[in-house]
Amino acid sequence: MISTIQEDLQKEFFDRFQKNADHIFFCPGRINLIGEHLDYNGGDVMPCAISQGTYLAISRNSSKTFRFECLNFPEKATLHLQSSYSKTGKAWFNYPLGVIDLLLREGYELSGLDMLFYGNLAIGAGLSSSASIEVLTAFALNTIFQLNVPVINIALLSKKVENEFIGVSCGIMDQFAVAMGKKNKAILLNCDTLDQEYIPFETDPYLLAIINSNKQRSLTESKYNERFTECGAALKLLKQELDIQNLCDVDLATFDLKKHLINDPVLRKRAHHVVSEMARVKDAVIALQTKDLQVFGKLMYASHQSLKDLYEVSGKELDTIVDFCKTFNGCIGARMTGAGFGGCAIALVRKEAFGDFAKQLSKDYKNFIGYTPEIFASEIGDGVRELIK
Ligand code: GLA
Repeated sequence: MISTIQEDLQKEFFDRFQKNADHIFFCPGRINLIGEHLDYNGGDVMPCAISQGTYLAISRNSSKTFRFECLNFPEKATLHLQSSYSKTGKAWFNYPLGVIDLLLREGYELSGLDMLFYGNLAIGAGLSSSASIEVLTAFALNTIFQLNVPVINIALLSKKVENEFIGVSCGIMDQFAVAMGKKNKAILLNCDTLDQEYIPFETDPYLLAIINSNKQRSLTESKYNERFTECGAALKLLKQELDIQNLCDVDLATFDLKKHLINDPVLRKRAHHVVSEMARVKDAVIALQTKDLQVFGKLMYASHQSLKDLYEVSGKELDTIVDFCKTFNGCIGARMTGAGFGGCAIALVRKEAFGDFAKQLSKDYKNFIGYTPEIFASEIGDGVRELIK
């Protein structure tokens, strides 16, 4: 009989902590269909939770310590209960530790915990492994200590951990998507108001492929924060004549009239991406509602082009994937997804052509880049949840 991830985790938990785990929780990763780098500009995004993610086996202990272990990394930590914590270098446990730190600072009462994490989500590949572990920890502690924090606030709190404890100026998209995802639905989220709507994501006769470029991402955090700062600077310049709160409040026609206010060409390109991407999301919503996947696919290609030329967050690996997609007969759209600088692309591929697609893309990519990508069909799943007692 094949054992499940839960059973394996229980066994490992017992070996490491000499007792059973009282709970097992799961939080997915996410892809973003369209609306990239719009969340911190107050715009609309369209993410989906996927079936891969992070698991946590957890029990309370009476030793007033937080014990962190993970099947993916050899590093472990045992930290005594304090009133706050600070980040330890680049250790993986900074993410759950940041959540514990924030809950303590906000006055929630916690006690000792034994925790074993495991992720089957490619780490650092743009599928939100960090949001997944943050939301997972916050959701687990919320359940165990009966903190009564609504799931939406768990997403907000996890974003705060990423911004303040980890130091990445991300928006709310990832934490929201992994907390609130629904099977076979795309979330249309306005990141300014947090208004959300679930849109059926029906891809038949296509499937949505996820292609991990396997490029080791470097400088991601600093480049990401640089884009965040650039958008803030562009907004400030537009505000000289426009009464706006966010870059996404500007439509394309107004941008054309006012873009001269942004006298720096780089800042102007960044703002142009944001404004045009927001228009694409609106068109993409109509395309999904009218089940016009051909149009949706074209919008994906246009989004990628803009992220490449105007926002400059793609790279030769992601471009190689998208360029291949354009030449492949059964593919109608593709784009990078997530922050960029490596990570993953997504593509709409005819189901019966997926095998050939994967084979040929792997071959072309390896010839050009030197190593192979990982290609799989995505499944759109539910958000964070408890698995078994
Ligand atoms: C990362 C961030 C998100 C979002 C995307 C780009 O995934 O964590 O907040 O900005 O990049 O859309």
